[in-house]
Amino acid sequence: MASLTLRNISKRYEETEVMRNINLDINDGEFVVFVGPSGCGKSTLMRMIAGLEDISGGDLMIDNARVNELAPAKRGIAMVFQSYALYPHMTLYDNMAFGLKLAGEKKPAIDAAVKNAAKILHIDHLLDRKPKALSGGQRQRVAIGRAITRKPKVFLFDEPLSNLDAALRVKMRLEFARLHDDLKTTMIYVTHDQVEAMTLADKIVVLSAGNIEQVGTPNALYHAPANRFVAGFIGSPKMNFLSGTIAAVQSNGVLVKYATGETQLVGVLSGNAKVGDAVTVGIRPEHLQPNSAEAGDYGVSASTMTVETLGDAAYLYAETDIAPDGLIARIPPLEKHPRGQQLKFGTAPDHCHLFNAEGQAYTRNVVDSWQREHATAA
Ligand SMILES: Nc1ncnc2c1ncn2[C@@H]1O[C@H](COP(=O)(O)OP(=O)(O)O)[C@@H](O)[C@H]1O
Ligand SMILES: [Mg+2]
Repeated sequence: MASLTLRNISKRYEETEVMRNINLDINDGEFVVFVGPSGCGKSTLMRMIAGLEDISGGDLMIDNARVNELAPAKRGIAMVFQSYALYPHMTLYDNMAFGLKLAGEKKPAIDAAVKNAAKILHIDHLLDRKPKALSGGQRQRVAIGRAITRKPKVFLFDEPLSNLDAALRVKMRLEFARLHDDLKTTMIYVTHDQVEAMTLADKIVVLSAGNIEQVGTPNALYHAPANRFVAGFIGSPKMNFLSGTIAAVQSNGVLVKYATGETQLVGVLSGNAKVGDAVTVGIRPEHLQPNSAEAGDYGVSASTMTVETLGDAAYLYAETDIAPDGLIARIPPLEKHPRGQQLKFGTAPDHCHLFNAEGQAYTRNVVDSWQREHATAA
């Protein structure tokens, strides 16, 4: 088990800086997920932690000791990649034992370590097989098993489920949660899938273009995203964004006027809000409602396009110029809306987010129990 500290870490490839000002504390035993779109620097950051990539600037500390120059094998870290990198001619047993043999471990110790890892991962009945006789999920388990045998202080997983089909991903996701519960070792998990991040993480690190956008618990990121990027990245379907200008700063929030002349009261602290400022209102699909009683007179008219039925719910898609990405409202499963109908979409002020022209979030004035608990926890 180990804690990690990243202080002002940066990474350059020749002239190009691909990561900057990375500051992060990872606590002993924590499950931390790095999430962000493809190319944002997740693998680069992980490879710097593992020692597979030089660190261009800053300090990397493991248990308070600087390890920037320490060889990968000496860092006590085991890494599992998306491609399982198993030896095809070896049995599972030998695949998992290989690293320990190279390290000069004695046979009984190797045997105990391999059998223990196989048991944890429920592959103890497969140890005589070769990788080609396994499913994708089983191969991934062997790769994880190989990491477990090394008893690392920190596990690094780089998109470990990306090669698996959707159903297996869900199953393996639960396995990762259980594995962390069983081992209680510090784990860093990289994914571009925000659902994996939400379901697995104690702490999520959202990355974009080489920067950390926000660090927080899944709940903190969902309910109090620091900026528009995080608001749009976390949550599916994505948050609705409606552009407008500030019409009034009131004691109960900020009144936003849309280009249509319609308004929405937003329950945020006024901060440095000024009448006339360009802003974006953010409303999650579960809160945006057509003809909402909660919204009263607030909201914007939009033209319905289509309804997607999911069984337990349905999503109504609508078009308006003030929401360039369109609007999505989660509606009851049996509700029907003909195409081209004009409906008013709004929500209660407390369900709205507000972003300034730079995309920074205003502080919401709903402080319910989870916010008190989690907003500053991570
Ligand atoms: N060896 C390299 N030389 C130059 N640029 C690189 C190299 N490796 C990665 N990059 C760049 O660094 C950025 C981050 O890449 P990466 O960490 O692989 O992203 P992610 O894992 O989030 O998809 C990308 O812009 C990528 O093009
Ligand atoms: Mg990657």
